Amino acid sequence: MKIIVTGAAGFIGSAFTRLAVQGGLAPVCIDALSYAGDMERLEAVKGKFFFHQADISDRARLTEIFSAEKPQAIVHFAAETHVDRSILEPASFIKANVIGTENLLELALQHGIEKFIHISTDEVYGELSAGEEKFREANCLLPNSPYSASKASADMFVRAFMKTYGLPVTTIRPSNNYGPWQYPEKLIPLVIAKAIRGENIPMYGKGENIRTWLFVEDCAEAVMRVLETGRQGETYNIGSNEEKMNRDVIAAILRLLGKGEELITFVPDRPGHDFRYAVDTSKIEKETGWRPRVRFDEGIERTVEWYRMKSDWLFKKEAEARAFTGQLRKRFEEMKSGKGFNFSA
Ligand SMILES: NC(=O)c1ccc[n+]([C@@H]2O[C@H](COP(=O)([O-])OP(=O)(O)OC[C@H]3O[C@@H](n4cnc5c(N)ncnc54)[C@H](O)[C@@H]3O)[C@@H](O)[C@H]2O)c1
Repeated sequence: MKIIVTGAAGFIGSAFTRLAVQGGLAPVCIDALSYAGDMERLEAVKGKFFFHQADISDRARLTEIFSAEKPQAIVHFAAETHVDRSILEPASFIKANVIGTENLLELALQHGIEKFIHISTDEVYGELSAGEEKFREANCLLPNSPYSASKASADMFVRAFMKTYGLPVTTIRPSNNYGPWQYPEKLIPLVIAKAIRGENIPMYGKGENIRTWLFVEDCAEAVMRVLETGRQGETYNIGSNEEKMNRDVIAAILRLLGKGEELITFVPDRPGHDFRYAVDTSKIEKETGWRPRVRFDEGIERTVEWYRMKSDWLFKKEAEARAFTGQLRKRFEEMKSGKGFNFSA
């Protein structure tokens, strides 16, 4: 089967592409190579996939690629993914995540695609309180950040294309991923970078926010399983079932690096910060037999070790991310001082 993988140079898309190549596929990869994309993530499978640098919001460019490649399936990871950036620049999230997804859906329809696997997120469900039941696929969507609102909008278009035109779509909603190659604007690699250098580690609020961390290779395997055996028109949650408070995740990293918790500094909470995400994964487990293989204790140890060995990459990317975070903070301060947001500034 000829598959297009969008966002293949990103964190999860590259893990999926490496897995697909190992499984004998030669995917056609599309990626805009934004700040988050990096072809180094695909070095291990170089020469075994096809690549087009393209922005999925560029319909004309996608039309050329689809006409040339004539794909049968699409696995769609490409997205703007960082919540903090979405607070600063919501419009760019609409462009990539909503318009980009709609472009792919239309092209999929025109080309008679047999499977369209859309990668969403558990963040579309909103947040849970401490004792509340885990998210199930039938929950309504209550996104709280511009990022999750853009992903929820994309999910709605995916659903509409199935209901209106009969496009064979399947949606996957993963929980927070971690592992090698994640861009260090995200919590785990950012904390590792700072801890290696013995710098202060900012923790939002009291660090009590809860996430279920999923090792990226487990996520890639779940996506492959859904591509192979998932049912059309269905949605599947994927997650690890291991709920962790952010402060426990940070403590585990510090322990592994032999650093003390005095490095932690508390910073004001992120606006609209969801308290808890936890997904019920019984549907994918029952229907496909998939289960996460890597327990958090093992996954975090492998992750910390990987970044220690790859510290040049980590520090280079973290410096880029830090420059942007400086701008972000300045805008938050402007907002707090009553000047308001100016998204076009
Ligand atoms: N990382 C997580 O914890 C997590 C959890 C749940 C869901 N997801 C979803 O999984 C998918 C992949 O996430 P990730 O963590 O690998 O993201 P990432 O930010 O690491 O990678 C995104 C990739 O998409 C590319 N991209 C961005 N905008 C594009 C555009 N307009 N056109 C073409 N390419 C574009 C980037 O260059 C990058 O290579 C996303 O859809 C995300 O919403 C991620």
